[in-house]
Amino acid sequence: MALTTGAAFATGLWTLTVGRPEGWWVFALHGVTGYLVLLLLIPKLVRVRGRFLPGIRSPHAWAGLATTILALMTMTFGIAWVIGGDLVVLGYNLLNWHILLGLVLTVVLSAHMVIRAKPLRSEDRSRRQALRLGVFALGGMFLWSFQERLIKELGTVGSRRRFTGSREVASFSGNAFPVVSWMADRPAPLDVATWRLRIEGLVTAPYAVSRDDLDTRQELTATLDCTGGFYTTQHWSGAFVGALLDRAGVLPEARWVRFVSVTGYRWSLPLEQARDALIAVRVGSELLSHGHGAPARLVAPGERGFVWVKWLARIEVRAEPDPGQLIAINISGLTGADDVSGEVNARG
Ligand code: HEM
Repeated sequence: MALTTGAAFATGLWTLTVGRPEGWWVFALHGVTGYLVLLLLIPKLVRVRGRFLPGIRSPHAWAGLATTILALMTMTFGIAWVIGGDLVVLGYNLLNWHILLGLVLTVVLSAHMVIRAKPLRSEDRSRRQALRLGVFALGGMFLWSFQERLIKELGTVGSRRRFTGSREVASFSGNAFPVVSWMADRPAPLDVATWRLRIEGLVTAPYAVSRDDLDTRQELTATLDCTGGFYTTQHWSGAFVGALLDRAGVLPEARWVRFVSVTGYRWSLPLEQARDALIAVRVGSELLSHGHGAPARLVAPGERGFVWVKWLARIEVRAEPDPGQLIAINISGLTGADDVSGEVNARG
């Protein structure tokens, strides 16, 4: 039970990183695993009902009941979002609550496993158990595909969701789509007159550009798909990263490009993928608003919204990927600002 919940958690986290349609199966796998947890919960509850009835006596039973309610809420919120539920509580939608509860559930179950760990009994490892798990997994697949067919038949809001589960908001509307930021990033508006974007690292001639320099009207139509549950397709314009890198002269050992925000938020893309990304200064015909990352933000087609770094300070060409970015995106905004003076460094 705990292991399948762990699998639901792992596939859930995995979904957050998938932004290309060919990755639809990761979401399907998560749905099937989620339904598998639900199916396994039923015999488990039947087995332990004696601890709850006629009244709860032990603290362990209380803990078990609380965990069961948490698991049921996690699954109900996930299914309700997929069907098309519109409930917003304390500013958070059903998908946000689903993810938050899924996290809490996984922490609680991990603690339970550490505190009450029992060695696996031989019957747990038997062929019969494996067969039983297989049957439940088939049940999970059936329920997930039945759900998908039902949603389509009924034409609910969920039938119009993207393969990521996100719903469309304000496409082709300029700055009118929702402003969201990962964690603590809330910088004050930047002074466009003094702001410069540096292009540096493994390049022969590092340099810095102003917003006007970037406003070259190179265009890209791309979908920003936020892990918070919405997507918006917009015409973005600015300058392609490839053109900016060519001007700096990329050194042969370069493999990665890191995009760093004034807040310390950062993300890297492989060099070839980065070349096709855009540094946007406009959305539609409007200059980017502060909330959407003015003076300039990254537009990275096929990547989820958290990769589209806002309030850029520098583009850094590197030989290595950047594992520290996973921590940086969660604590940026608390750790101090990057400099936007335009003074460039030759080596990243
Ligand atoms: C914290 C990590 C998690 C994340 C990021 C996550 C993410 C998601 C997303 C994006 C969807 C919508 C998928 C779609 O539109 O097709 C979803 C649905 C769902 N999730 Fe999760 N989830 C997490 C944890 C869990 C856990 C721990 C469970 C089970 C206990 C679970 C069970 C479900 C179920 C039953 C659905 C609805 C079925 C479906 O996908 O079609 N999730 N989740």
